[in-house]
Amino acid sequence: MSRRRWSQLAAVLFGVLLLGAGWTWWQAEQFEDRFDADYVGSAVCGDCHTIVHGQWLGSPHANMVRRPDTGSVVGDFNAGEFRLPADSPDPLAGEVVARTFVEDERYYMALRHPDEESFVAFPIEYVVGYQYRQEYVFREPDGVLRRLPLQWSTAKQAYFPYWNLQEGSDQTLDDLWAQMTTLHSAWNLYCARCHTTNMDILERDPGHTRARVEWQEKGIGCEACHGPGSLHVEYMKSNAANRLAMFVRNHLHGHPVAYVANADKLPKEQALSVCARCHGADIFTHNQDFYRLYEPGYSRSGRINDLSEFFRQAPLTPGRMDPTVEVWHNGRPRGIGMLFRSFVESECYDKGEPRCYDCHDPHQNKAPTRPGILEPSAVSNAYCSSCHTDIRNNPEAHTHHAVGSPGSFCYDCHMPKHITKLNTGIWERTRTHEMSSLPNPHDSVRFGLDNAPNACSDCHTDSSPADLVEVMREWWPAYQPPESPEPDIALY
Ligand code: HEC
Ligand code: HEC
Ligand code: HEC
Ligand code: HEC
Ligand code: HEC
Ligand code: HEC
Ligand code: HEC
Ligand code: HEC
Repeated sequence: MSRRRWSQLAAVLFGVLLLGAGWTWWQAEQFEDRFDADYVGSAVCGDCHTIVHGQWLGSPHANMVRRPDTGSVVGDFNAGEFRLPADSPDPLAGEVVARTFVEDERYYMALRHPDEESFVAFPIEYVVGYQYRQEYVFREPDGVLRRLPLQWSTAKQAYFPYWNLQEGSDQTLDDLWAQMTTLHSAWNLYCARCHTTNMDILERDPGHTRARVEWQEKGIGCEACHGPGSLHVEYMKSNAANRLAMFVRNHLHGHPVAYVANADKLPKEQALSVCARCHGADIFTHNQDFYRLYEPGYSRSGRINDLSEFFRQAPLTPGRMDPTVEVWHNGRPRGIGMLFRSFVESECYDKGEPRCYDCHDPHQNKAPTRPGILEPSAVSNAYCSSCHTDIRNNPEAHTHHAVGSPGSFCYDCHMPKHITKLNTGIWERTRTHEMSSLPNPHDSVRFGLDNAPNACSDCHTDSSPADLVEVMREWWPAYQPPESPEPDIALY
C-alpha cells in the first residue's frame, strides 16, 4: 500500500474513533456523584466481572459463613469427640463431654448434660471459618444463632474450647454450658456483622436471647467493600454506550465509574475504613451504632464512610491483657484484634499513603498482590524502598546484614512477628503492621523478653538483649532508644 493510502486509512480510522467517542459521549447517561442504592449480591456482579468474581469465589472472605455440608465442614463429624483435659478441676476430667456426628445428612454437636450422663444434641445451622479453625452455630427458638463452645482446630485436627484458651480459664463442663449464655455467644447479634454483607439487626433484647437479623449474603461479598450496587448494575445494563464510556473513564482517565465505590479512588481515611471496619476489632466495641451507619461509597442520605476518628481508639495501655486486644509492656500492639491499630501506629500511614491492598489482593484475600510481597524478599524490600528511596541504593549500610541474608530485609526489623494470635488453638505470632517500628532490645532489657519482644532477639536467641543493645549503639550511633512509658500492670 502506498503512503497515501495509509494516511487515508488512518484518517478514516481516526474519524471512526472520533465518531465513536462522540456517540458514546452523547449516548452515555449522566450519573450522580451522591446516591443511595440497594444491595444485589455478588452473583449479579459476576455477570460482568467474571474474572474478579471467579477469584473471589475461592477466597476466605467469600467462604467465611456456609451451610454445613461435605464441602464446607472441616471438623471431624465421623464420631468426633472432645474430652476435658486430665488436669481439669471438673470431676469429669479426662472424660468425653462433647460428640459430633451426622444423622440424616444433618450435622450435630452434642454436649454432655450438666447433671446427667445423657448428651444434648444441637443441629448445626452454619459453619463459620475453615482456615485456622471452624466455629459451629445452632438456631434457638427466638432467633438467636448461638455459638457452640467447641471449635475445630485445623492445625491440631481436634476440637478445642477457644474461649478457655483465650482467657486462660479452667475447662469444665459447667463452663462450656456457661459459654452459651454470654452476650458474645449470640453469633448473629455480636459476631456476624464482620462475617456477612449488609447485616441489619431488626430486633434484639438486652440479654441477647431474642434476635431478628437479616443480611444480603453470607460471607464478605463484593458490596461489603464496594457499597450497594443496584444503580451501578442498572446503569451498566441499560446501554452499551454507558459501558464504553465508563471503560474509558476508568482505564484512560482513572476517574470513578458510575454508582460504585473503588477504595483506591477514595481518600486514604475512607479507603482504609473499608478494611478497618472488620479488621480493626476495637473500632466498634464502643460504637456499635456507628457500625450500622457505615457503608463504603457515596451515600446521599448520610451514611458514614469514614471511620478514621476511631482508628486510634483502642487504648495502648502498656500491659493491657483483654483478650485479642492485648498490649506489650512497652505499649506496642500485641493481640490479633490490634492488627489494624498497629498499622495506623506507623509513621508511614501517618505521613504517607500505604494501603492494605498494596500487599494483600483484595479479591483473593489470602494471596499476595504480587509474588514475594508477603514475605521478607527483594519484592517486599522494593515496596518499602519505593517510598524510602535513600536506603534503596546501599541497603547494607543501613541494615549491617549481607544483602539477601536473614536480617537484611525490611520486614525482619520493621515488621517483626509481634502480633499474637490463637487462631488455631495454638499461640502463634504474625507480623506487626506497624511498618515504622524500630528494633528495641532496650525495652526487652527493661521489661523482659516475654513482656516486650524485639526484632533482633527473634533471630539472635543466643545473644542477650543487653548484648544486642551494645550492637545497636555501635551500628546506629544516632539511634535513640524509645522512651517507653511505665506499664500499668497494677490494673490487670
Ligand atoms: C452489566 C455489567 C456490570 C455489572 C452487572 C456490574 N458491573 Fe461493575 N463495571 C461494569 C463496567 C462496564 C465497568 C467499567 C469498566 C471497567 O472498569 O472495566 C465497571 C466497573 C466497576 C468497578 C470499578 C470502579 C472504579 O471506579 O474503578 C467496580 C469496583 C465495579 N464495577 C464493581 C461492581 C460490583 C460490586 C457489581 C455488583 C454489585 C458490579 N460491578 C456489577 C459493568 C458491570
Ligand atoms: C470486628 C469484626 C469481627 C467480629 C465482631 C468477630 N470477628 Fe471473627 N474474624 C474477624 C476477622 C477480621 C478475622 C480474620 C482474622 C485474621 O486472620 O487475622 C476473623 C476470624 C475468625 C475465625 C477464623 C476463620 C478461619 O477461617 O480460620 C473464626 C472462627 C471467627 N472469626 C469467629 C468469630 C466469632 C465466633 C465471633 C463472635 C464471638 C467473631 N468471630 C467476631 C472479624 C471479626
Ligand atoms: C475485601 C474487599 C473487597 C471485596 C470483597 C471485593 N473487592 Fe473489588 N476491589 C477492592 C479494592 C480495595 C479494590 C482496589 C484495588 C486496587 O486498585 O489495587 C478493588 C477493585 C475492584 C475493581 C476494579 C479493579 C479491577 O480489578 O478491575 C473491580 C471491577 C472490582 N473490584 C470488582 C469486585 C467484584 C465484582 C467483587 C465481588 C466478586 C469484589 N470486587 C469484591 C476490594 C474488594
Ligand atoms: C465485612 C468484614 C470484612 C471486610 C470489610 C474486610 N475483611 Fe478481611 N477478613 C474478614 C474475615 C471475617 C476474615 C477471616 C476469613 C477466614 O480466615 O476464613 C478476613 C480475612 C482476611 C485476610 C486473610 C487473613 C488470613 O490469615 O488468612 C486478609 C489478608 C484480609 N482479610 C484483608 C482484608 C483487606 C485488605 C480488606 C479491605 C480491602 C478486608 N480484608 C476487608 C472480614 C472482612
Ligand atoms: C507510601 C509510602 C511509604 C511506604 C510504602 C512505606 N513507608 Fe515508611 N514511611 C513513610 C513516610 C512518609 C514516613 C515518615 C517519615 C519520613 O518521611 O521518612 C515513614 C516512616 C518510616 C519509618 C520511621 C522513620 C523514623 O524516623 O522513625 C520507618 C522505620 C519506615 N517508614 C519503614 C518502612 C518499611 C519497613 C516499609 C515497608 C514495609 C515502609 N516504611 C513503607 C512512607 C512510606
Ligand atoms: C507491607 C505489606 C503489608 C501491608 C501494607 C499490609 N499487610 Fe497485612 N500482612 C502482611 C504480611 C507480611 C503478613 C504476614 C503474612 C504471613 O506471614 O503469611 C500479613 C498478615 C495479615 C493478616 C493475617 C494475620 C494472621 O492471622 O496471621 C491480616 C488479617 C492482614 N495482614 C490484614 C491487613 C490489613 C487489614 C491491612 C491494612 C490495614 C494490611 N494487612 C496491610 C503485609 C502487609
Ligand atoms: C537489621 C535491622 C534493620 C533492617 C533489616 C532494616 N532496618 Fe531500617 N532501621 C533499623 C534501625 C535500628 C533503625 C534506627 C536507626 C537510626 O535511627 O539511626 C532504622 C531506621 C529506619 C528508618 C528511619 C531512619 C532513616 O534512616 O531514614 C527508615 C525509613 C528505615 N529504617 C527503613 C528501612 C527499609 C526501607 C528497610 C529495608 C530496605 C530497612 N529499614 C531494613 C534497622 C533495620
Ligand atoms: C531475620 C533474622 C535476623 C534479624 C531480625 C536480625 N539478625 Fe542479625 N544476623 C542474622 C544472621 C542470619 C546473621 C549472620 C549472617 C550475616 O552475617 O549476615 C546475623 C548477623 C549479625 C551480627 C554479626 C555477628 C554474629 O552474631 O554473627 C550481629 C552483631 C547482628 N546480626 C546483630 C543484629 C541486631 C542488633 C539486630 C536487630 C537490630 C539483628 N541482628 C537482627 C539474622 C538476623
